[in-house]
Amino acid sequence: MSSGPHAPHRPTEAELDDMTPDQLATLAAELDDVVILRNLSKFPIPGTRAEKRAERAVATWFLLSGLSAAAFVAAYLFWPSQYRAPSEPGYQIYALYTPVIGATFGLSVLLLGVGLISYVKRFLPDEVSVQQRHDGPSDELSRRTVMAQLAKAGKDTTIARRGLIKRSIGIAAGVFGLGFGVIALGGLIRDPWKGGAKAVLWVTAWGSDDGEKVYLRRDTGASGEEIIKNGIRGIRVRPEDMNTGSMETVFPFRMSDLQHSERLDAVLKMSDVPVMLIRLRPGEPVIQRAGRENFHYGDFYAYSKVCTHLGCPTSLYEAQTNRILCPCHQSQFLATEYAKPVFGPATRALPQLPITVDSEGYFVARSDFNEAVGPGFWERKS
Ligand code: FES
Repeated sequence: MSSGPHAPHRPTEAELDDMTPDQLATLAAELDDVVILRNLSKFPIPGTRAEKRAERAVATWFLLSGLSAAAFVAAYLFWPSQYRAPSEPGYQIYALYTPVIGATFGLSVLLLGVGLISYVKRFLPDEVSVQQRHDGPSDELSRRTVMAQLAKAGKDTTIARRGLIKRSIGIAAGVFGLGFGVIALGGLIRDPWKGGAKAVLWVTAWGSDDGEKVYLRRDTGASGEEIIKNGIRGIRVRPEDMNTGSMETVFPFRMSDLQHSERLDAVLKMSDVPVMLIRLRPGEPVIQRAGRENFHYGDFYAYSKVCTHLGCPTSLYEAQTNRILCPCHQSQFLATEYAKPVFGPATRALPQLPITVDSEGYFVARSDFNEAVGPGFWERKS
């Protein structure tokens, strides 16, 4: 704030109260050692056709932004996002899901920005001001005059009398905000606790309410239809199929699935069922978890493949150290000690699937996991 010998007259409180916002803004510039070299209105005569044209051009950007945002919301809600394998019908549409929501969202942000820049370039006055730099906190006089200056700047934007642009900004911002709302609330609309004790977070397809046998199935790459046509040879796992110190990823399989090819396909896409079936080397000292002493079958141990940190697949098994590694954040679990975490951010052991071998010599699950798989959530006790 200027205080030198040529500083402008500092008005009293009463004089300040009598000043118009324009006078206060001018005073603010003088007090701040600001010299306005040029201030030219883009449309000195309001209401000309050129001004209306400029207004429509700006409104068009905002409306296009609103349309893109609406397209984003529609795509987010209705575009088929269910996973489809490349060989399945509908894959092309599914594969476009992420590009479509990314493109529509990005376009709406871009068009909103273009609209704002276009407005500033077309309607804000051409002003060149020079200010001397000064230090120190602002006093009451400065604060009041600066506020007046800001108000004047707002007035200079002429937005108050541009209804079309205001409405188009409102539409763009409204639909844009709706998009954000949809993203924020979208995940909360489905109730994960529907079904009570059988809610989707508590149980997996390894459980069998009707007593039907649940085999441990390997993914041979054959589709459901091919399995039904060519038979199930090779998809059920037997102890002699695996070398010592090896690991295989397995999924649940019921004989009744052979009536429905889509079930055979669907089970491979369920995020909570993949299990690592590990055959330890003979003679490895093992520590069983209390209450799970009979979950294994000989040297075979079955652990959920879903990391208890953030849910990545714990795909790597190192036979030399008996460690299971999650590649996402390097959590390590000890296969010889109920898959308890020994390194990295995971804090809970991988759930263990109780297994045995049936009279025909195939691995079967004795029941579902006895705890929820995957990362922790508030309601779980363990
Ligand atoms: S998800 Fe496995 S370590 Fe983070």
